[in-house]
Amino acid sequence: TFTDAEKAAIVSILDKASGNASALGAEALERLFLGFPQTKTYFNHFDLSHGSTDLQTHGGKVLGALVEAAKHLHNLEGSLSKLSDLHAYNLRVDPGNFKLLSHSILVVLASHFSADFDATTHAALDKFIAVVSHVLTSKYR
Ligand code: HEM
Repeated sequence: TFTDAEKAAIVSILDKASGNASALGAEALERLFLGFPQTKTYFNHFDLSHGSTDLQTHGGKVLGALVEAAKHLHNLEGSLSKLSDLHAYNLRVDPGNFKLLSHSILVVLASHFSADFDATTHAALDKFIAVVSHVLTSKYR
């Protein structure tokens, strides 16, 4: 559960990010693949070159899912249920990779919204992405 201050910080940043979801998401994916090249194995079918349509499209989906999740902080398990099924049953992404993507997303948000990124906001976003990741990896067994 989130405090009112955490909720406010999460909603504020994700609201700002929603206008630029594809570009921000693509940057998070690019940072993921450059920093942690082993994560590319899940995306053999994508064009991973800088600025590719695949990166933009998928980045928009990932960031869009976070924007949507921020609207359901009271019921993340319910609102992420389908996405959780997909990652656990179909994609079978190793759960360790969620920490890596979470880190990349956090860095993107910090660098684009630096004026808002005080320690409280940082901690709230870190918690939010960790909870989302936990939900997406909770059905593995
Ligand atoms: C697909 C979100 C973590 C690998 C997706 C989709 C979304 C999404 C919204 C598209 C679902 C659809 O088309 O219906 C997220 C979120 C994550 C996360 C919010 C964590 C915060 C990861 C991680 C990996 C991964 C860590 C692997 C490193 C994939 C793959 C697909 C996918 C391979 C299918 C791509 C395709 O073929 O179109 N994810 N994801 N995801 N995700 Fe994730």
